Amino acid sequence: MKIAIYPGTFDPITNGHLDILERALKLFDKVIITVAKNPSKQPLFSQEERRSLIRSAVKRYKNVEVDLFDGLLVEYARKKKATSLVRGLRAISDFEYELQMALMNRKLDSTLETVFLMPNEKYTYLNSSIIREIARLGGDVRDFVPEAVLKALTGKHPRKP
Ligand code: COA
Repeated sequence: MKIAIYPGTFDPITNGHLDILERALKLFDKVIITVAKNPSKQPLFSQEERRSLIRSAVKRYKNVEVDLFDGLLVEYARKKKATSLVRGLRAISDFEYELQMALMNRKLDSTLETVFLMPNEKYTYLNSSIIREIARLGGDVRDFVPEAVLKALTGKHPRKP
């Protein structure tokens, strides 16, 4: 059984992340989406809220598990018996950071392979910060996020009458 981990902050999950997940599901028997604590970011949604938003968004897919993690990714992957990490590459600007992480993870565990997948080009300019900002300023993000995220964002930033 080929298991891949798709790690990230997912604050919140977007349609771009789901696009990567769908591609990963064609390559692996099971994909574990795991929500990182990531102390370097101050998330809008708690780790549990992010997990529950992802769970709602992936209900329609088989062979997907949603989890939380804190600590070293390679250790988490080992515990889950995963052979690969999945990361999305949206643009050349992602490359340097992703290469550094992939090489460091390989150094920490040479049996773990990082697989990069490119999302549909309509998602290449998306990230979670831009979604949070548009929602905070009252803009419409319905084309970019799953339904549950849209509701949750509206809950955090109620529209003014
Ligand atoms: N569609 C839309 N947005 C996407 C995307 C896609 N397909 N792919 C990435 N993004 C966005 C994310 O929304 C996020 O946006 P934001 O910064 O505006 O919030 C950004 O790209 C990158 O975030 P993400 O993919 O969540 O990665 P990250 O850099 O926050 O997370 C970890 C990196 C958690 C995987 C990494 O820090 C880690 O492994 N931590 C564990 C500790 C560890 O082992 N460290 C050693 C690593 S070598």
